[in-house]
Amino acid sequence: MNYINEINEALETFLPVGDDKVSQAMRYSVRNGGKRVRPQLTLEFCKVCGGDPKKALPFACAVEMIHTYSLIHDDLPCMDDDDYRRGKPSCHVAFGEANALLAGDGLLTLAFLTLTKAELPADNIVKACAVLSQAAGVCGMIGGQVMDLENEGRTVGTETLEKTDELKTGELIRCACELGCIAAGADDKQIDAACRYARGIGIAFQIVDDILDVTSDTKTLGKPVGSDDGNQKSTYVSALGLEKARQLSIEYTLSAKAALSAFECDTAELDDFADKMLNRKN
Ligand code: IPE
Ligand code: IPE
Ligand code: MG
Ligand code: MG
Ligand code: MG
Repeated sequence: MNYINEINEALETFLPVGDDKVSQAMRYSVRNGGKRVRPQLTLEFCKVCGGDPKKALPFACAVEMIHTYSLIHDDLPCMDDDDYRRGKPSCHVAFGEANALLAGDGLLTLAFLTLTKAELPADNIVKACAVLSQAAGVCGMIGGQVMDLENEGRTVGTETLEKTDELKTGELIRCACELGCIAAGADDKQIDAACRYARGIGIAFQIVDDILDVTSDTKTLGKPVGSDDGNQKSTYVSALGLEKARQLSIEYTLSAKAALSAFECDTAELDDFADKMLNRKN
């Protein structure tokens, strides 16, 4: 499962070409070398459900745009106030706060235009549009970011942490998987299994992110370490300690992998991907 070159090439075709600061900022942040976890999941689920991954590229790029916008806004001084992202100065450091805010808005809206570029039946595009807007919105990623802010500076239980992570990180990951299924015209059983896989890797992904914030270094991570502690964030690491958090991330990964048995075709790549995400260094 290595679609990174295809994804980067496709992203280039959708990005704005203007010389204005906001177009520049949008290109800067998207080109800034993320791991492309979500778009890869879209393409692989399309394949696993019997579709042609190439046809799912606009869906994959749309999720990556929403994800990149969420990171630009997440780094703003009014949010996590982080100056470094994907190995470079954060968007607001490079282009100023107002341009970063607008670049995020620009990517959010461009994502929905990008969905419409898919050469797929109109019904599938409409479904994708609904799924993406739900996952990115106040009942999805934004809702999770709200909870994350509310949890700052207080002790919260694991139930609240689970809900927060499920929304702020899990929803876009789930949506990425579901969009791949939709591109392939998958049935409800396949979509349900994809969502169960996504739920497991989604929460595990955020737990690992929180662990790396404590254990990694800025050069490896490409973003500041110690950000959560500095912002008094409530994370699985602050609540349970490193060891238990690690154990929980393993359990969620195992539950994700178990969901793959519902597919009749070869899901070895998705199985490996779950482990890769669990053991990642950045
Ligand atoms: C970082 O996501 C933010 C979280 C939701 C944990 P990624 O770790 O996927 O960031 P990039 O895209 O590789 O930079
Ligand atoms: C970010 O979580 C989740 C979203 C951007 C939606 P974090 O705040 O932990 O992500 P990083 O660590 O800054 O990448
Ligand atoms: Mg944050
Ligand atoms: Mg952050
Ligand atoms: Mg983090």
